[in-house]
Amino acid sequence: MKGGVLLEPKYKRVIIKLSGEALAGTTSHGIDTPTVQSICSQIKEVFELGVEIAIVVGGGNFWRGRSGEGMDKSTADYMGMLATCINALGLQDVLEEMDVPVRVQTAIEMKQIAEPYIRRKAVRHLEKRRVVIFACGTGNPFFTTDTTAALRAAEIDAEIILLAKSIDAVYDSDPLVNPDAVRYSELSYIDVLNQGLKVMDSTATSLCMDNHIPILVFGLNEPKNILRAIMGEKIGTIIQEV
Ligand code: GTP
Repeated sequence: MKGGVLLEPKYKRVIIKLSGEALAGTTSHGIDTPTVQSICSQIKEVFELGVEIAIVVGGGNFWRGRSGEGMDKSTADYMGMLATCINALGLQDVLEEMDVPVRVQTAIEMKQIAEPYIRRKAVRHLEKRRVVIFACGTGNPFFTTDTTAALRAAEIDAEIILLAKSIDAVYDSDPLVNPDAVRYSELSYIDVLNQGLKVMDSTATSLCMDNHIPILVFGLNEPKNILRAIMGEKIGTIIQEV
C-alpha cells in the first residue's frame, strides 16, 4: 500500500531462474535448507499476489557439465540434468511445506519421480494457480539451464526472466576481483553479446533477443528482491531492447 493505493505486481507470468549454487547458500555444495526456505518464502509471497510463477533450476551445487573434465561432454551434461532434478524435488518439498501448490515437470522422462514436460499442461498448471518447476534443463546436452529459462519463457509466454544471482547486477568485470568494475543498470542484448558479458551464455541471450523476452539480473542476497523485482522496482540490471 502506498498513499492509500494498493500496488499491483508489474508482471502476471514470470520465469524465475535459480542457479544450483543459490540453493547451497554459504555451504557451496548440496542443498542448504535455511537458504532454500528463505528463497521459497519469497516465492510464496509473490505467488500470493496472484503472479504465475514457473521456476527453472540449475544443478551446479551438485554437478556442472564442466566438472567432468576429460569426460564425454554429453555424459557430463546429462549428469548435470539429473542434478537439476534433485534441486527441483528439494524446492517442491519446501514449497509444499509452505502450502504452495507445486508441480515438477522433467524434460527427460522419469515418470516415477515427476510428470514429463508438456507445454500445454504446464500452462494449465499456472492457470490453476500452481507453481511449476522445470527440471532437467532442455533435456539436451550442450544447452544450459539459462537457455532452458529462455526457451520455457518463450514457450509459456512469460513476460520476463528473473535471473537470481549471487551478485547484485551485471558488471563489466568481476567486482570481487576488480574494485573499479562498472555496474550496469540497463543493457541491450547486443551489448551483452558484443561485450562478451558473462551474465548468460550467448545461446540464451540470443533466444531472449529473438523472442523479445527481457531479463532482470539481481542478487538473491537481499531478502525482498524477488518481490521488488515483481513489483517493477529498479533493481539489478535489466537486459532488453533499447
Ligand atoms: P489437473 O488435472 O489439472 O487437476 O492437474 P493435477 O496435476 O492435479 O492432476 P494429475 O492427476 O495430472 O496429477 C496429480 C499428481 O500426480 C500431481 O502431483 C502431479 O504432479 C502428479 N503426476 C502427474 N503425472 C505424473 C507422472 O507422469 N509422473 C509422476 N511421478 N507424477 C505425476
